[in-house]
Amino acid sequence: MIDSKAFRHCLGKFATGVTVVTCRDAVGRPCGITANSFSSVSLDPPLILWNIAKVSNSLEAYKQAEFFAINVLSADQESVSNHFARSDHTLFDDVDHILSERGSPLLPDTLAQFECQTHEIRDCGDHFIIIGEVVEFRASDHDPLLFFAGQYRRLENPEG
Ligand SMILES: Cc1cc2nc3c(=O)[nH]c(=O)nc-3n(C[C@H](O)[C@H](O)[C@H](O)COP(=O)(O)O)c2cc1C
Repeated sequence: MIDSKAFRHCLGKFATGVTVVTCRDAVGRPCGITANSFSSVSLDPPLILWNIAKVSNSLEAYKQAEFFAINVLSADQESVSNHFARSDHTLFDDVDHILSERGSPLLPDTLAQFECQTHEIRDCGDHFIIIGEVVEFRASDHDPLLFFAGQYRRLENPEG
């Protein structure tokens, strides 16, 4: 038997960036969820993944979406991360965004964006793994927002 509290604590030792994954639901409303499970999968074809909890109120939106976008947050977007970590269908009402050509909501001032076409959804434990084929991407020179041991962090030496 695994001690789930200790397991979560140990998983938190893996430092990550923070993303907001966006799509539009079946009636066209923009949805966004904060996620740090983002990872690259394949260069050719260009594939990425992220995981969504089966208990998420947004699950159906992402399961039916043909396209979604990964918005990689920059260092000063902690409040954006907290905003999209809330469960609420009106999260986009007061958030500045544009819709991409394919209809995915894109947030301003992010570090990077990956627009994806849903490639495969895998049922895995208490999450679904959502794999996307990248159809467009862009990057900026902002510093990243980091997440480590349950807390937001910033790079100590952003210039390297
Ligand atoms: C830094 C951070 C990373 C998170 N990563 C994930 C994730 O990868 N997958 C996930 O399903 N939830 C993740 N969450 C939790 C969701 O953001 C949160 O449960 C969700 O927004 C609640 O709304 P929902 O019920 O509409 O999904 C994360 C939260 C934070 C603060």
